[in-house]
Amino acid sequence: MKKIADIISEELEKAFEESGYEAKFGKVTLSNRPDLCEYQCNGAMAAAKAYKKAPIMIAGDVVEKLQNSRAISDVEAVNPGFINIKLSEQFVADYLNEMSEEEHLGLEQKAEPKTIVIDYGGANVAKPLHVGHLRTAIIGESVKRIARFMGDKVIGDVHLGDWGYQMGLIITELKKRKPELPYFDEEFAGEYPEEAPFTIDELEEIYPTASAYAKEHDDYKEEALQATYLLQNGHKGYTAIWKHIMRVSVADLKKNYANLNVDFDLWKGESDAQPYIPEMVEYLKKENYARYDDGALVIDVKEETDTKEIPPCMILKSDGASLYGTTDLATLIEREKLYNPDEVIYVVDKRQELHFVQVFRSARKTHIVKEDTKLTFIGFGTMNGKDGKPFKTREGGVMRLENLIGDIEERMYGKIMENRAIEEEEARKIAKIVGLSAIKYGDLSNQASKDYVFDIDRFTSFEGNTGPYILYTIVRIKSILAKYAETKTSPIRAVVKKAVSDSEKALMLEITKFNSVIENAYEEKAPHKICAYVYELANAFNRFYHETKILAEENEERQKSFISMLLLTKEIFEACIDMLGFEAPERM
Ligand code: ARG
Repeated sequence: MKKIADIISEELEKAFEESGYEAKFGKVTLSNRPDLCEYQCNGAMAAAKAYKKAPIMIAGDVVEKLQNSRAISDVEAVNPGFINIKLSEQFVADYLNEMSEEEHLGLEQKAEPKTIVIDYGGANVAKPLHVGHLRTAIIGESVKRIARFMGDKVIGDVHLGDWGYQMGLIITELKKRKPELPYFDEEFAGEYPEEAPFTIDELEEIYPTASAYAKEHDDYKEEALQATYLLQNGHKGYTAIWKHIMRVSVADLKKNYANLNVDFDLWKGESDAQPYIPEMVEYLKKENYARYDDGALVIDVKEETDTKEIPPCMILKSDGASLYGTTDLATLIEREKLYNPDEVIYVVDKRQELHFVQVFRSARKTHIVKEDTKLTFIGFGTMNGKDGKPFKTREGGVMRLENLIGDIEERMYGKIMENRAIEEEEARKIAKIVGLSAIKYGDLSNQASKDYVFDIDRFTSFEGNTGPYILYTIVRIKSILAKYAETKTSPIRAVVKKAVSDSEKALMLEITKFNSVIENAYEEKAPHKICAYVYELANAFNRFYHETKILAEENEERQKSFISMLLLTKEIFEACIDMLGFEAPERM
């Protein structure tokens, strides 16, 4: 469906033309003074310069031509030359009826869908998920769902950190603890055990222990680096251990991401880039894209217009080991080959921006990606505690994601049980759903690039700009619809009639903004715009609800119209929160 602003713009453009001015001045936008009008056109001001005429005269000419418009009920020229517009109630109601009938609630699907690979999550195998991994999961999932709603083909890849030094550390520590294992016997020729030599809990203890030990002991660190190198070059026993680590750790990660309602199409990782690395290195050398610097192989990426120093992208360390940039470049080779994407989006902490500048420039310069493959970095800010410092546990340690989610659920559970007769089991279920909305909305309602304060008290509140408030509003609509359905046998979808009150019209106007909001959120990869919209929609609905008797309305046609509008409102809410990555319970 055409967006309202475009429909009204066309009318204004025609009116400008009929008055003897160029059509281009007729652009209409949402009003920034909702107390005065709903849409506005400032074109008369610009036209005044072109035609050397007072803007108010031009506005007056245009307004005269719009008197018989079907879509506009009220149009006024006000000093110094604004054109203030109110939409006709019937036009708005018709628009709602069309939205109800259209697929995707009237949002036009992209004519040429893109193939997008989105790299988010980025968990590191064998290390517990901590809050640092929360933002990428939440934002990435939402960006993915928005693009899918627009019709793009989107492939989400978790891109695990599964190939670096941490693997060497674990192998080294394991060897120290259990040297008798066959993985460490170079002569061993049999089948390695199927069972992993550790549990997930042991694994999570091994990594930090080894990491701390290596910092104090150089020979141990050397051994871990050597183990990393051997693993990357196909050592049999180490590869078998690595597979155990992967199986145990990935099963645990899957459970954690499922709890967050985050899911990936691809469970690939840095290790999947390995097969492409030797050939890539050969190519980079042969084409003279890379050079040796102090024994290390690097690609120069600085450009003349740089205002700060951009160091070369490191491809191989002097000991031959590959690095973070190496796997990211080789992963791009794989992505081009397997998925031929129009765009690759990375949702990563903004402190990694320099790394991605290096990788993107290297990929372009070396033609690892096609000329027109878009590479996008969505860098997000830090999640801080109330003290303004990165979020920590009460004891000051790194907060595990599971614990954070558990805390929020517990908090939600307490609130739901307060003064309410509800079964414990149901309350637990609802607490999980509402708790997730608190976390995700709390995050997504901020512009991604900004740091924000993770304020549990505020995020879990049922009032204000929060996830629970949005869900509460949806549940309220569901409950009205359910009550209505109990008393009526006829289908509840009917025709929406023109608004009879201010609050009804205000709600209708919010509903009509859906397509333009989603398009804009898509173009700017900005889930926070959807949050801002659902908040406005919730406020508009609640105002209407408080001022209107819906279930007690005696005029049956009127009531049917209200109910149909509620149905549409609910569908819009549900589409929006689905794009944000959470859902609403039946009651709360
Ligand atoms: N594993 C990395 C980390 O925890 C994030 C990976 C981001 N994606 C990428 N393609 N580099 O910092």
